[in-house]
Amino acid sequence: MLTDHHSHILPGIDDGSKSVEMSLEMIKCLKQQGVGRIVATPHFYAHREDGIAAYLEKRQQAFEKLMSAGPAVDNIILGAEVSIEQGISELEGIEKLAFQGTKYILLEFPYTGFSDWMIDEIENISYNFKLTPIIAHLHRYIDIFSKSQMESAMALDAIIQLNNEAFETRAEKKFVKKLFAQGHYCVFGSDTHNMKERKPNFDLLLKKAKPDWVENSNVLLDRAGL
Ligand SMILES: [Fe+2]
Repeated sequence: MLTDHHSHILPGIDDGSKSVEMSLEMIKCLKQQGVGRIVATPHFYAHREDGIAAYLEKRQQAFEKLMSAGPAVDNIILGAEVSIEQGISELEGIEKLAFQGTKYILLEFPYTGFSDWMIDEIENISYNFKLTPIIAHLHRYIDIFSKSQMESAMALDAIIQLNNEAFETRAEKKFVKKLFAQGHYCVFGSDTHNMKERKPNFDLLLKKAKPDWVENSNVLLDRAGL
């Protein structure tokens, strides 16, 4: 089943969908592109949130509002896009931000530059909670991180998440090919935020990616029984 592993489709919770109507439109578009399962991953920035419990409550309310409106795809799994911050691995309840019913947690490097403590935080989350990190859109950092910093990120025992937009530029496409050639396990996502400049783009993925890349991406959540 074609699966979107990264999306901002929940209404009014982050810089993604602004309303239930917008969410319904985004989900309808994903469905038209063949998507049958969506992981909703609203941003989680520890320094902005009032703790995990408050975030989960807010997420649940947005989810219920959306589900009561009858979205075109109803296989929606709750998750989060967790920004790597110093001390995040010690935040009480961080494991509750994993994709619901799984051991996978989507982690996002900041865009401010790389520091070694980021690798430590990811490894601590993984080790302390027996979670498998999914590194969000690693191709986006090829111009931000140095070559050796990218290699540190790629050396993590983690799944790599790629945004479908990676197939739009030559440099990112080349990086994606390298990941697959090196045998990394990668999963795809739209990272859709709206119906304008960040709309669902699985049409692009299906046109540009090798079918077995997409197939392998789709089985991640099958294995988790979702
Ligand atoms: Fe995102």
